[in-house]
Amino acid sequence: MRMVVLGLGYLGATHAACMAELGHEVLGIEVDPEKREQLAAGVVPFYEPGLPELLRKHIDSGRLTVSGSYRDAAEFADVFFIAVGTPQKKGEYGADLQYVDAAIDELIPLLTRDGLILGKSTVPVGTAQRLSDRAAELAKDVDVEIAWNPEFLREGYAVKDTLQPDRLVLGRFAGGRAESVSRDIYSSIIDSGTPFIITDPPTAELVKTSANAFLATKISFINAIAEVCDAAGADVKAIADAIGYDSRIGRKFLNAGIGFGGGCLPKDIRAFMARAGELGAAEALTFLREVDNVNMRRRTRMVELAREVCGGTLLGKRVAILGAAFKPESDDVRDSPALNVAGQIQLQGASVSVYDPKAMDNSRKLFPTLDYSSSALEACDQADAMLLLTEWQEFLSLDPAELGKRVRHKNLVDGRMCLNPTVWESAGWNYRV
Ligand code: UGA
Repeated sequence: MRMVVLGLGYLGATHAACMAELGHEVLGIEVDPEKREQLAAGVVPFYEPGLPELLRKHIDSGRLTVSGSYRDAAEFADVFFIAVGTPQKKGEYGADLQYVDAAIDELIPLLTRDGLILGKSTVPVGTAQRLSDRAAELAKDVDVEIAWNPEFLREGYAVKDTLQPDRLVLGRFAGGRAESVSRDIYSSIIDSGTPFIITDPPTAELVKTSANAFLATKISFINAIAEVCDAAGADVKAIADAIGYDSRIGRKFLNAGIGFGGGCLPKDIRAFMARAGELGAAEALTFLREVDNVNMRRRTRMVELAREVCGGTLLGKRVAILGAAFKPESDDVRDSPALNVAGQIQLQGASVSVYDPKAMDNSRKLFPTLDYSSSALEACDQADAMLLLTEWQEFLSLDPAELGKRVRHKNLVDGRMCLNPTVWESAGWNYRV
């Protein structure tokens, strides 16, 4: 089938390449000329394991092409995926839908045949209805159907999550062709037994928002328990393991530490609260404010721990920060807890040296005044404290003895609770979580 993907960021580029992998002919539309050139040359402008191979394969095969022109999009196909970003509005909790709105406003007047627009971006409930009304105003003698088909991919596993998703969800208005077209598009995934949930658009929009709100709640739950553990002298990791064995609870997303960040969970819970408020249901989601508060407290606590191990002040101290990406297997530093902590520590007078295996360029752009090192060892040179803030595999195999020779004081704050305390303590380190 021929299809267009509007927006080639983390979500769109992955979706476009994966649709080509499923055998479809895909045109990706990207308005940023630099990104577009890279993608057209088969280069992925961000780190996502497995995606460069897939993109190159389908650019080379000609099944995936890239353009900046909505006119090309309108000519190329009758099925359009919206995959543009929906960031948090500046100074407000709500989602900024300007890119979604712009995609609709630009595309629809150019359509000369009936079209189906499938939204993948995470949007506040009610967006598909609003866009549907707008589409009816903009369409010239053609019929445009809007449906929502939310994406659940995780950065770092985006290709796998798209080609082998846990479930597919489609929210469509009655009487359209969204369901039959989606069944064609995803036929091989559906045939392999993946659950395909067909519902109405508000439900589909809420499925996505609820999933992210639940994940955020799960992480903040265990981090709240971590606060109690600190006060009671208990071990939060052992608690997560023990309750995680209960299949009703599950161990995933119960890793306590510095908390969640990234371009999705933080802004999605805030947009969810804002939308519930608009709908007169604010009270239902007041707990999400606490989820957000617990999460932000983790960052403050990390700074306090750093100050404590440095003897009560960060002034004039050297602090090594291992990890800058919001999670491993990603170079994304949007709302990265690690960089947030690094910035706060620097503001308190320490000199901060950051190392991350993949996110150095993005970090430099966001926090140009921090120092950056080219390895974990270099970052730790003469450090008074070392903070592990993103659990990259390469940090799990660090040698405590070797690092011990580089630092000034053997203070380790494990912000991801991912190292073995016994190993580090027996090498003379002051291990803190
Ligand atoms: C999240 C969801 O997991 C995806 O299902 C969703 O599609 C995506 O948002 C989206 O809305 O586009 P992602 O932001 O890539 O995916 O990352 P996650 O794996 O969810 O991790 C989010 C944050 O939580 C990271 O900072 C991670 O370090 C943190 N985390 C995760 C914890 O602190 N503890 C855990 O146990 C798990």
